[in-house]
Amino acid sequence: MCFTCHNGTGSVYNIQVEMDLVPNTYAMHPIKVNLPNNPGIYNYTPGTTAGIAPPGPYDCSTCHNPHRDTGNGLLLRWRYDTSEYVTYGSSSPDPYSACWSCHNQAMVDDTINFSGHQSHIKLHQASCTACHYSPHGVSHVELVRFNPGFVGPSLSQGSGPAFIDNGEHSGSCTLTCHGVDHGPANY
Ligand code: HEC
Ligand code: HEC
Ligand code: HEC
Ligand code: HEC
Repeated sequence: MCFTCHNGTGSVYNIQVEMDLVPNTYAMHPIKVNLPNNPGIYNYTPGTTAGIAPPGPYDCSTCHNPHRDTGNGLLLRWRYDTSEYVTYGSSSPDPYSACWSCHNQAMVDDTINFSGHQSHIKLHQASCTACHYSPHGVSHVELVRFNPGFVGPSLSQGSGPAFIDNGEHSGSCTLTCHGVDHGPANY
């Protein structure tokens, strides 16, 4: 029903293209859809990543209230601040409540999966959307896709923004964000 419009025809937001990716090849939140590349209920193996959310699959309406906006923007059920600079822990409810409704907030200080979470979120005031732009599904691993609003090509390399997954808990980012060049930065 949602895809009658959110397929590039009835709305500027084409969510169908984000969800019509081959599961377990690309990163997706486990959302129930029935599309050519992703037929039936999204059948995935719950990950073993520490602090990750309870398994889905979910509906669009798990996260969105399709009838009216209750003040969070984007019809979201919980607060989700997508500003360029967000001061972590500055308000209640937390600016990223939408994520904490499933993910364990302790992941911000977790140094195993991506040690850069803590420094980017707490010190550099980067919001989740800076690196996880489009939470539905993206054709990049780990749901990493840089927000084109704040993240640009690496000034020193003249390419990007790009993320390369180098296996479990290891990756490489080529980009410029807040004037800081990563040409590239590795973790
Ligand atoms: C009849 C067409 C139609 C259907 C069906 C539809 N939408 Fe939309 N939706 C729109 C339009 C139009 C917008 C406004 C953005 C735009 O102009 O493209 C929108 C915006 C949104 C937004 C962003 C809200 C904002 O503040 O910008 C969300 C989230 C959304 N829709 C979710 C859904 C979900 C979930 C469903 C299924 C339950 C759904 N939509 C079904 C047409 C539709
Ligand atoms: C309704 C529950 C729910 C909500 C809300 C939610 N997530 Fe998730 N998220 C999950 C599940 C389930 C997984 C997949 C875990 C697995 O199987 O590995 C996941 C996985 C992820 C991944 C890892 C993807 C990968 O391929 O490793 C990222 C990144 C992520 N979520 C970010 C977010 C962000 C940012 C928010 C807030 C906008 C958010 N999530 C909100 C349930 C949720
Ligand atoms: C796990 C929670 C979650 C689920 C499930 C979910 N969304 Fe979203 N959706 C979000 C978040 C978070 C944003 C805001 C993303 C941003 O601005 O960075 C969003 C944004 C949107 C937007 C606005 C355009 C955009 O990409 O920012 C539309 C339209 C939308 N969602 C439709 C849908 C539809 C249709 C479904 C079901 C196929 C769905 N969503 C399922 C969390 C979810
Ligand atoms: C500076 C970029 C950046 C920001 C900002 C960011 N993330 Fe991530 N995130 C990543 C990268 C890179 C990974 C992949 C880590 C790996 O290789 O295992 C990741 C992985 C994840 C995962 C998968 C499991 C885990 O713990 O590693 C979740 C869930 C997640 N992020 C949620 C969030 C939420 C929620 C926010 C905002 C509060 C956020 N991220 C902000 C870059 C970012």
